[in-house]
Amino acid sequence: MASDKTIILITGANSGIGLETVVALSQASPNFHILLGARSVEKGEKAISEVKSTSHPAGPLKGTISVVQLDVSDEKSIHSAKEQIENTYRKLDVLINNAGIVVTRPCDTLTNLRETFETNVFGAMLLTEAVEPLLKKSTMSGGPYIIHVSSSLGSIGTRLDPEDKYKGVRGDTYRMSKAAMNMMAACHKFNYAELGWKVCTFNPGYCVSNLTGPEGREVRLSSGARPARDPADALVEIVQGKRDGDLAKSGIVDIDGGVIQW
Ligand SMILES: NC(=O)c1ccc[n+]([C@@H]2O[C@H](COP(=O)([O-])OP(=O)(O)OC[C@H]3O[C@@H](n4cnc5c(N)ncnc54)[C@H](OP(=O)(O)O)[C@@H]3O)[C@@H](O)[C@H]2O)c1
Repeated sequence: MASDKTIILITGANSGIGLETVVALSQASPNFHILLGARSVEKGEKAISEVKSTSHPAGPLKGTISVVQLDVSDEKSIHSAKEQIENTYRKLDVLINNAGIVVTRPCDTLTNLRETFETNVFGAMLLTEAVEPLLKKSTMSGGPYIIHVSSSLGSIGTRLDPEDKYKGVRGDTYRMSKAAMNMMAACHKFNYAELGWKVCTFNPGYCVSNLTGPEGREVRLSSGARPARDPADALVEIVQGKRDGDLAKSGIVDIDGGVIQW
């Protein structure tokens, strides 16, 4: 069954920025069908039912939502998600590689690096490669879009800037993974340019989410982190083509407009 709707896949969408983006996209258009990627189907279904039973100040849900089991660190899961999308919709119009981790438990550097890169880099790369044939069948006017949710912490250019607001945040392995994601995005921008695809990395800013666990969430709440709805709104604008000018630039598309140097 081919679909007339715009089919949007978001990874790691049962929580935080991903889940807020599911809601914001659904509010934006009845023509969107959002595939909520979750490594646990149970968590994904729970997130949908909570979203559906909550009243939303920004308006009702209009676009449809369904769960896709997707663990980006598991090649089998990636390929079965691709097959499921192909069998049901025949195409994909927007891919948002949002799943990401920070390893917060104490462990040796090699373990930390492997786990961090497995999800934040390898997963995004392998999933994009797997769904490329579906993106080739996109019917979206002005699309398709590939959006990699990165971070200003992955900007090499600002790492040694004494004025950088987050210069005191260490997170070496996380920073390295987002820098690698940025290079992947630059390669995707180059590789897909002749097809007219829109590709970017995106900086969501410092937000309230579960990225650094329950304690980290509390720290975020008490230290002025912005609501995850803010980057969700910016991601909707990207999907709607309102940030195409920034996507044409070289750099990380910033939540607040413009780009940050790679
Ligand atoms: N929050 C910030 O301040 C901030 C700033 C800059 C960039 N970011 C980026 O924003 C993205 C979203 O993070 P968030 O802040 O919204 O954190 P979050 O609330 O922890 O959400 C991360 C999501 O990724 C999922 N995930 C983790 N490993 C996965 C895997 N192997 N396969 C599939 N899904 C997986 C998690 O699922 P489970 O629930 O199953 O763990 C969760 O749904 C990340 O890429 C992060 O690096 C966040």
